[in-house]
Amino acid sequence: MWVPELLTPRLRLRPLRLADSGDLYELLREPAATRFLPFEPTPELVWEHVLESVAARYTPGMGSFVWEERETGRFVGHGDLRPSQETEDERIETGWYLMRRYRGRGLAVEATRAILRHAFRTMDLPEVIALVHEENEASRRVARRLGFRIEQCGTYYGGPHLLYTVDSRSGQQDPEAVQ
Ligand SMILES: CC(C)(COP(=O)(O)OP(=O)(O)OC[C@H]1O[C@@H](n2cnc3c(N)ncnc32)[C@H](O)[C@@H]1OP(=O)(O)O)[C@@H](O)C(=O)NCCC(=O)NCCS
Repeated sequence: MWVPELLTPRLRLRPLRLADSGDLYELLREPAATRFLPFEPTPELVWEHVLESVAARYTPGMGSFVWEERETGRFVGHGDLRPSQETEDERIETGWYLMRRYRGRGLAVEATRAILRHAFRTMDLPEVIALVHEENEASRRVARRLGFRIEQCGTYYGGPHLLYTVDSRSGQQDPEAVQ
């Protein structure tokens, strides 16, 4: 997997590394995240997931990003851009996860805007999808702010999800991105 470093006003997005496994476990084990996950995260499962992601042979530019606070270098969250294993035709999917203490500041939207800008401007992808659990209101707000539109409802990740899509024309641009 190779993804570039992306900068936003408050965040540095960089490639996921094996050493991130502990932080990622902390992120995923928290109730707001596990509520919508199809499995119970354990340190071993998260380690396997990180190992698979780092070793994956995606098209260069796709993979998993860690979001760090620029000021402190702290682990803030995680997002990715990769072929979906939930859709038959492997549409390109993104997702967003924030550590609890970093929520309510607009950081998920800021980070994902940078990922979408990379997807559309650098990779020239025609569209990106996101799969959001019907009851995940916070995540649905993130999707709406980013310009995603609901295409359909269906069973994904073992539960009722909305399949959102965005393309380079309908997605909001990132006026504040610095790189
Ligand atoms: C989904 C998730 C990332 C959303 O986090 P979030 O903090 O609500 O999202 P953002 O970082 O974009 O912040 C938006 C909120 O910050 C507020 N905010 C505060 N300062 C802001 C600023 N400078 N700019 C923008 N928004 C700001 C917004 O009003 C908004 O709050 P609201 O949705 O109550 O109106 C978070 O709840 C999470 O990690 N959940 C667990 C994992 C998960 O479910 N992931 C999604 C899987 S599909």
